[in-house]
Order: sequence, then structure tokens, then C-alpha cells
Amino acid sequence: MSVLIMDYTLLDLFTSLVISATAIDSHNQPHPDSCALSNSGTILFGMNDGLRDMIKRIYSLHYRSRTGKVNNSTTITEAVGIWQDLATWQPPDALPGDQYPELYDSYTSALFTWLYLILHPESMCDEKVQSMVEKGVLAMSAITVLELLPFLLIPLFILGLASVQDEHRDFIGGLLDHIEEHTACDEVEVYRTIVERSWESQDQGLPRSWEWIQ
Ligand SMILES: *[C@@H]1O[C@H](CO)[C@@H](O)[C@H](O)[C@H]1NC(C)=O
Ligand SMILES: *[C@@H]1O[C@H](CO)[C@@H](O)[C@H](O)[C@H]1NC(C)=O
Repeated sequence: MSVLIMDYTLLDLFTSLVISATAIDSHNQPHPDSCALSNSGTILFGMNDGLRDMIKRIYSLHYRSRTGKVNNSTTITEAVGIWQDLATWQPPDALPGDQYPELYDSYTSALFTWLYLILHPESMCDEKVQSMVEKGVLAMSAITVLELLPFLLIPLFILGLASVQDEHRDFIGGLLDHIEEHTACDEVEVYRTIVERSWESQDQGLPRSWEWIQ
């Protein structure tokens, strides 16, 4: 029987880096000490399974392309490379508990959505984006284990920004409420604020309503 260690470092990292849209600076990266634990075979969700690196690469590309540090052709080349890596990436074989497959599915749907939006920022309503949102919503709706819910903030954020259909928005808003009520997660409000602001922009017909890095 595996010991359940809940470590939300991935969420802390995402909040401090991606939500506040700071530059990735290799000198002041938080370096969570996950190596010691990886030897014992413990899965720290997101930290030693490849997800953290994938998120950092996508975020770095997003940030650099929006702040003019890379041109369009470099953006496309890099995005295609990350896309291929994400398409072949697999969750660890030995998962620490139930509902991890759905949790990983929600992340891959969200990360594909994010990459797609970096490449096609005006194409949020595309069938391709909306079917990825649908897939992510389905995966998230299967997750009921309380300890896993805080991890859903990241896919909820990305898939929330890409949501245009009422049923998706209602689901995402409801799940944010649920996490706020049932976990000790302080970050919900900041995630919700950005997502709801994007919905207002989308409803007003503003282009790139999903974009939170200006
Ligand atoms: C884009 O940037 C890369 C790397 O700086 C450079 O090699 C390439 O020539 C640039 N492409 C265009 C079309 O400006
Ligand atoms: C470069 O990318 C920007 C932002 O995605 C876009 O607005 C612009 O049209 C692109 N330019 C070219 C030449 O593709």
C-alpha cells in the first residue's frame, strides 16, 4: 500500500510563475527537492513525472512570444516540438491512487489547449479547441477525491479561459466554488477572477479574450 503524500508544489509554481506572468529566470527558480523522493518511487504529482517541465516550456514560449522575445517562426517551431513531446508523453506506470488517470487526462487536454491558443490566439471557438475543452471537462467531472481537487485549478484555469459554451462555464464555475468550499486552497479567487474576466471579454466580442499575458 502506498503512502499518500500530497504535495502541491506544482500549484505553487504555477501560481507564482504563470498566473502572475513573470519571466522564467533560471537563477531564481524555486527548486523543490523532489529528487530525494523520486528514488523511493513516490510519485509527486506534476513534479517528477514530466508535467512540470512541460508546463515550464509552454509558459516560457507563451511569455516570450507575447513579449516579443521570439518571432513567429520560432514560436511555431518550438510549439510543434512541445506538441510532439506532449503527444508521446505518458503518465507514470504506477499511479499512487484512484482517479489519477483522469487527473492526468485533464492536464493533457489543458496543455494541448494552451499550446493551440499560443499558436492560434484568435481561434478559441474552433471545433478543435472546443473538443479539447469538452474532453478536459469530462475528465475533471470524474474526479471526486478531495486531495486531488486543488490540482484541478491548473486545468480549470486553462480550460476555463478557452470555454465559450454555457455548460462548460457552469461546470468550471461550479467546480471552482466546490474547491473553495471544501479545500484549504487560498488561490481559488485569483484563478476565478482571471477566468471570469475572460468570459466577460469573450461575451463582449473582444478578440483574444483568453489571453492573460498582455
Ligand atoms: C526568427 O528568430 C530566429 C532566432 O532568433 C532567427 O534565426 C530567424 O531568422 C528569425 N526568423 C524571421 C523570419 O525573422
Ligand atoms: C505574428 O504573430 C502575431 C501574434 O500571434 C500575429 O498577430 C501576426 O499576424 C503574425 N505575423 C505574421 C507575419 O505571421
